[in-house]
Amino acid sequence: MNEVLDKIKADALEFMQEVDDLKALEEIRVKLFGKKGSLTDALKGLGTLPKEERPAMGQMINDVRAELEELVAKKQKELSTEAMQQALQTETLDVTMPGKKAYELGKKHPMTLVIDELKDIFIGMGYEVAEGPEIENEYYSFDALNIPKTHPARHDQDTLYTKEGFVLRTQTSPVQVRTMENQKPPIKIIVPGRVFRKDEVDATHSPMFHQLEGLVVDKGITMGDLKGTLSIFARELLGEKVKTRFRPHYFPFTEPSAEMDVSCFGCDGAGCRICKGSGWIELLGCGMVHPKVLSMCGIDPEVYSGFAFGMGLERAAMQRYNITDMRLLYENDVRFLRQF
Ligand code: DAH
Repeated sequence: MNEVLDKIKADALEFMQEVDDLKALEEIRVKLFGKKGSLTDALKGLGTLPKEERPAMGQMINDVRAELEELVAKKQKELSTEAMQQALQTETLDVTMPGKKAYELGKKHPMTLVIDELKDIFIGMGYEVAEGPEIENEYYSFDALNIPKTHPARHDQDTLYTKEGFVLRTQTSPVQVRTMENQKPPIKIIVPGRVFRKDEVDATHSPMFHQLEGLVVDKGITMGDLKGTLSIFARELLGEKVKTRFRPHYFPFTEPSAEMDVSCFGCDGAGCRICKGSGWIELLGCGMVHPKVLSMCGIDPEVYSGFAFGMGLERAAMQRYNITDMRLLYENDVRFLRQF
């Protein structure tokens, strides 16, 4: 037993002379004192000795254990200090260097805020968001929307043509056609996007502005669905108290067509400057998708029906944020934009 103990100690001492990294030291610590370590084994072996030899032997094992534990701890300290010294020398850090500047967080543009709000309302009603190109061909812009060749909307006094057969889209309605060509009913989409018209810039006009289009096509869709949906939308947007009314109107791609007015939020319908005394404000155009439009998109109007709507967004944004001049929206003056 004595020789075993001597050998354990001698081996440990020798190893301790040579060891130069913490990982190897930890290994030897486990080999000595761990659950299956050699000193632990030696203690367990006491039971096999004659009774009278046990106390002395036990004492010797404990002495060796204490001595080696102290040695290991000392070595551990030494090696840690060494590692730290080395790290300090190789990994220099210049705390006087200027820090990396994080990007300054901007604000969302008021138009983006309004579009986000409208998207939330319609997504909440189960709509998906669709997109289409801003440079659009004449077929999607006009023909497929049942807009005749002689219609004033096609006139180059109103419409910006890029090259023969292509226009900057004057409305988001072409995305209705693109969607119906590619997707079978049920269809339930909104299309927020930029549109372009030959308008002079002033406080209420811009040659580029935003619209939000909506389209629902399924079996059995009626004017009742249109009115219900758009009335709920108006309440979500403008508050529970808002009233809606539908006036007959004309759009080539819907039949029947209507415009929806909302009770004026300036005067609650009594008549004021905002509503020019009428008590109502025009919010959007809408109607039942024209059977010809459905047919041209390969959807059988005998089986399916749908409703559509479209609204300009600039006015909504200006009302919401009390902006009196549309030009402010596009000048990108950060003093203006920071306020939202
Ligand atoms: N595109 C129309 C416009 O720019 C708005 C509109 C009216 C869209 C009726 C529609 C609709 O989808 O059904 O004035």
